[in-house]
Amino acid sequence: MKLPETVFDPPFRVTRTSHVVMEVKDLAASTAFYTRVLGLVLTEQNGDRAYLRGIEEACHHSLVLKRADKPACARVGFRVYQEDDLDRAAKYFAARKCETAFVDAPHQSRTLHVTDPFGFLWEFCVRMDVVPRMLTDFQNYRGGAVLRLDHVQVLTPDVEAANTFYMALGFRCTEYIVNEAGMITATFLQRKGNTHDLVFVRSTGPRIHHFAFMTPDSHTLVHACDTAGQLGYGASVERGPGRHGPGHALYTYFRDPDGHRVELCNTTYQTIDPELEPTRWDRSGGQVIAEWGLPAQRVWYEEATPFAGATLTAPNPALKRLSLEQYLDKPREPSEQNRTV
Ligand SMILES: [Fe+2]
Repeated sequence: MKLPETVFDPPFRVTRTSHVVMEVKDLAASTAFYTRVLGLVLTEQNGDRAYLRGIEEACHHSLVLKRADKPACARVGFRVYQEDDLDRAAKYFAARKCETAFVDAPHQSRTLHVTDPFGFLWEFCVRMDVVPRMLTDFQNYRGGAVLRLDHVQVLTPDVEAANTFYMALGFRCTEYIVNEAGMITATFLQRKGNTHDLVFVRSTGPRIHHFAFMTPDSHTLVHACDTAGQLGYGASVERGPGRHGPGHALYTYFRDPDGHRVELCNTTYQTIDPELEPTRWDRSGGQVIAEWGLPAQRVWYEEATPFAGATLTAPNPALKRLSLEQYLDKPREPSEQNRTV
């Protein structure tokens, strides 16, 4: 499939991925994990919700933990520039038979809820309450000292349709992966000018595979792992540290107490200029997807968090990817590169 053209004058203007709302069973346990291991700042806890942010963030929250009986993703939040963008977004989605509703969300300006055609639960707002930026509060840096929310990766059986839908909204494709049949199996879309705000990958969906926070450097990436180990969260370090091919980031993936996957990353690059073309990763040509490291274990490919109340659909055919278990079953020559995502 050919990629759609970039839309530089979209029907409404999303500025970035802003926040995620995750449902957790034990609010205290989850809050402890995110503040002690990843180093998020607890802005406020109020009843059944804890509001957290990165040390660079001067807005009230980028992660909301909401107490619930069952782990799920309640919403992913995006920002738009102005109130008028919000009204145009509501009309745009409603015209495409998507469920929309304006709601009151604490610490956010007027907020639009949308269930998109792929079953993803989004919310859009213009502003949040402003709080102190903790970037120079060096004495209180903890664990991964996360700076800010960077992106989310979500799973859907129809990546090509999702890619077309969101590129029409002005999301710009920076990198994408095609399989042996020429089908787009992953697409990296951005609004804020680096490599990604929103990633779609072919899998059972609608689910969220992970949400990702930027960490200052490779040292803090490793320090988060050391902190996890020391505090008894060693088993939560699921994959990495490693280096991605697409997006180029250094990464480590953690599983929180409910199994929600969170990535720490850094070193993505800038993609603002209009003449830049998306990078294509083509498995049919034997292209290496990562320059070094082992493939991910099966759970990294297969497990993810469903959106709340979602009916899940599997892709047909399923995406074939080499897992660590398969790799170890069939040892390769030392010179032979593996292929991972
Ligand atoms: Fe990621």
